[in-house]
Amino acid sequence: MSIPTAHIEVKESDVIAETVLLPGDPLRAKFIAENFLENPVQFNTVRNMFGFTGTYKGKKISVMGSGMGMASIGIYSYELIHFYGVKNLIRVGSCGAFQPNLNLYDIVIGMSASTNSNYASQYNLPGSYAPTASYTLLKKAVDIAEDKGYDVNVGNILSSDIFYDDDADAWKRWAKMGVLAVEMEAAALYMNANRAGVNALTILTVSDSLVTHEQTTSEERQTAFTKMMEIALELA
Ligand code: ADE
Repeated sequence: MSIPTAHIEVKESDVIAETVLLPGDPLRAKFIAENFLENPVQFNTVRNMFGFTGTYKGKKISVMGSGMGMASIGIYSYELIHFYGVKNLIRVGSCGAFQPNLNLYDIVIGMSASTNSNYASQYNLPGSYAPTASYTLLKKAVDIAEDKGYDVNVGNILSSDIFYDDDADAWKRWAKMGVLAVEMEAAALYMNANRAGVNALTILTVSDSLVTHEQTTSEERQTAFTKMMEIALELA
């Protein structure tokens, strides 16, 4: 396969920066480009999975929607890594808290991503795999957060294939193992990056709690979202 790829309509690989932020929602990608980047130029509209390249404090950076779920982020991150030379992939998203000490709007960074998905079966490993973030990006993100005085919770997250689970208590078994929160993409992103030898990280804002059943409204998410974005952008 060559470029343009099946899902990204870019004919020259340098149109996309070496560092790409990946929110799940393509309209969030547009919002980030328009509100945080200088001189953003749109590079993708295939399936409305908008992608933009601009600069942040003079450094070239791209932002593109990943879609929801591991199948979707698996496709986009694979094409970005293998066909467009992307080296740093930073997911920015939301999560549901599994632990009572996590409050709405708290920031969670996925050091590792447990999963109930079968994504790792493609590698035919003789055991189970631990999808892991880039230590370089993780350390930098924690340092940036400390500098800014933002609290972050770093640990194992769950990347789930299932939003509406038939077993309503399944999450409690992950929580017992110290898993901080649930989202739906990081494990596939980490596996693609680990396999290719590039860097990936997932930074999340708590949008709901499985412990307390609290939920945020979309307007309320803005402040916490801005903190998460500052950390992600400074990584570039
Ligand atoms: N993302 C945000 N909240 C979530 C939840 N409760 N389950 C899965 N993904 C999420």
